[in-house]
Amino acid sequence: MKYRPFGKTGVDVSVIGFGGWALGSHWGLQPESDSIQALNTAIDLGINFIDTAIAYGDGKSEKVIGRVLRDRTKEIFVASKIPPKPGPWPPSPYCSAEERFPEKYIRESVESTLKNLQRDFIDVMQIHTWTRAWNRDPFPLRILRELKKEGKVRFIGVSTPEHDQNALVGLMEDGWVDAVQVIYNIFEQEPAAELLPVAQENGIGVIVRMPFDEGVLTGKYSRDHKFSPDDFRTRYFAGDRLERAVERTEKIRQETADSGFTLPQLAIQFSGHHPAVSTVIGGIRNVDQAQKNAEVAELPDLNPELILKLHKHAWLKAFWYAGK
Ligand SMILES: NC(=O)c1ccc[n+]([C@@H]2O[C@H](COP(=O)([O-])OP(=O)(O)OC[C@H]3O[C@@H](n4cnc5c(N)ncnc54)[C@H](OP(=O)(O)O)[C@@H]3O)[C@@H](O)[C@H]2O)c1
Repeated sequence: MKYRPFGKTGVDVSVIGFGGWALGSHWGLQPESDSIQALNTAIDLGINFIDTAIAYGDGKSEKVIGRVLRDRTKEIFVASKIPPKPGPWPPSPYCSAEERFPEKYIRESVESTLKNLQRDFIDVMQIHTWTRAWNRDPFPLRILRELKKEGKVRFIGVSTPEHDQNALVGLMEDGWVDAVQVIYNIFEQEPAAELLPVAQENGIGVIVRMPFDEGVLTGKYSRDHKFSPDDFRTRYFAGDRLERAVERTEKIRQETADSGFTLPQLAIQFSGHHPAVSTVIGGIRNVDQAQKNAEVAELPDLNPELILKLHKHAWLKAFWYAGK
């Protein structure tokens, strides 16, 4: 495993992290024994950063992580997230930060995370989604600052809304966050415009999520693949979206056939190649995925020519009626 500084926090995190969403909910059948074995394998292979959220099965993902970590002696960094109170997701510019994240609610959420994880403090507490409308007066982050002083939260993070990967730039420049969580993959390359350089300039930890764009960039789905009805990807890839994403992935496969990397390796490597990135948290559901993803840390870096090839596969999905 390779380790990188988590911004200027003084902590080093594994370049391959563990995305823990599927351990909780929304991804169809996920036997708990698979989750436990996947977590233990990841830790054995040097992964020391796990991402979870209260919203992943109403604490289920946090609880299974807490149970596994209780029996392990290695120091593992856990990042969780507080979801907004009910309302539009991502929050609209008209939402009030104080109404979506009231102080009492933030405090109760942190307590429930600590209980689920069986810990006295959480390493990174993130606000699960955001609107740049809140950058001028980021009320929830004031409360997290208090919790940091009280020793319940070590580092403060915010996760980007799906449609706006540069939404956190103002917060980063104004010193509100220790870390950000962002989508940066072969399709979604917008963070290279502002967020990643600003993170580097300001010593902010960068957690990259969705290296596989919810699995499709692994190249293992066919155009007519059927996800189970309780897998959120029936919606994410609704209509012709899976077909279009698979076609684009096939082009990447053809153009990189001589690279020496498999598609999943290429996807993780791309998400992690920018020097601002601290850790890439691909979703891991079983031992095989834990092993394959951890192994990527041992591979040589992508060469500049290959990176340039992948730049051409950026896909601006969010306009011209192409969104959800
Ligand atoms: N802040 C937010 O709002 C937010 C949103 C999304 C995700 N996240 C976080 O980011 C993490 C990663 O994102 P994600 O899980 O949504 O998507 P992802 O990492 O793009 O895709 C993960 C999926 O890809 C498949 N996979 C993983 N490794 C593989 C391998 N080596 N070979 C083949 N298939 C592989 C698995 O799905 P199958 O086995 O089912 O095919 C896995 O669940 C999440 O777990 C969560 O912690 C946060």
